[in-house]
Amino acid sequence: MSLPKPIKFKAERYIGGLSKFKKIDNPIKLSANESALGPSPKAIEAFEKEKDKIFKYPDSDSNFLKETLSKKFNIIPDRIICGSGSDQIFDLTCHLFIEPGDEVIVTEFGFIMHRIYASLYKSEVKVAKEKNFKASVDEILKKVTNKTKIVFIANPNNPTGTYIAKNDMLNLRKKLRENILMVVDDAYFEFINSEDYASGLELFKNTANVLVTRTFSKIYGLAGLRLGWGYASKEIIDAMNQIKPPFNVNRAALAAGLEAIKDSEWIKKAIEHNTLWSKRIFSVLQECNIKTNKPAVNFFLMNFNETKVNSDEIFEKLTNERLILRKMNQYKISDSLRLTIGNKEANEHFIKSIGGMLK
Ligand SMILES: Cc1ncc(COP(=O)(O)O)c(C=O)c1O
Repeated sequence: MSLPKPIKFKAERYIGGLSKFKKIDNPIKLSANESALGPSPKAIEAFEKEKDKIFKYPDSDSNFLKETLSKKFNIIPDRIICGSGSDQIFDLTCHLFIEPGDEVIVTEFGFIMHRIYASLYKSEVKVAKEKNFKASVDEILKKVTNKTKIVFIANPNNPTGTYIAKNDMLNLRKKLRENILMVVDDAYFEFINSEDYASGLELFKNTANVLVTRTFSKIYGLAGLRLGWGYASKEIIDAMNQIKPPFNVNRAALAAGLEAIKDSEWIKKAIEHNTLWSKRIFSVLQECNIKTNKPAVNFFLMNFNETKVNSDEIFEKLTNERLILRKMNQYKISDSLRLTIGNKEANEHFIKSIGGMLK
């Protein structure tokens, strides 16, 4: 008797940041680029209030949240789609655009979910080389063929922490064929304060062949509720609405997200915390001879080529100090670990621990 057989997909599985390792008590998780301060207290309050309504379906169009986003970012509500994380927006994008034989361009150390979704929808994934862990417009353009359908760029990128300057982003869009969709993933844009940088939304909100994604998982501290959104032409968003699951964003996420977006004070506090600690940690990493990205995001990709102890040993030693970082094996970045900036106690503990190992 033959049993039902699932299709075999040729795509790797996402490996998340560990929250536990061995049997370590009170581990400090610095492996998933989550928020150091957690969500706004107003978001938590909204989440708690929502508990009496959880027997009811959520608003399937996320209307209140779209209105609030449109006011905050001066954008058109009908051109927003909300998703269960920005992950779901990548999924919907690949579902909508990829046909047999299409190619999707990603960058060498670009955020891995982009290429996973591109593979799940059976496109050929073309990988553009990076220079010093930074995406290169020239290398992306070299990968374009008449089969190219989508180019994915996280700007700034995870796990490298580097970004493409605004002029280069504009130049890339100009040089790509018009019918190629450029997806700009703005997951970490809030953390950057550099004159040569502009977010995807700022650069492309009026550009019909760019889709921008944003998330509530990073600065807003709502990773566990799964909330993200995309902004694109009305035509693309209408098509996404047609294929999205009807209640793809849950009630708690909608309620908390609405308050998180409105709480500018909390966002400011989170940015200030990150700026302060990223500078401090950066100088410690330099003193330890660890090569890393400049402070721009809420994490550091640390390379241990020039240190007396390699990344595997450092990982072990840090876990013995309860600090859990992210290994970079899935990204095939050798002798490296990624560190997320944590709260004050976590950062001080990390600084003391790494100093003891390498200074
Ligand atoms: C570049 C980038 N984009 C998107 C995401 C995923 O965001 P979400 O939690 O909204 O699915 C992450 C999470 O690590 C990320 O690093």
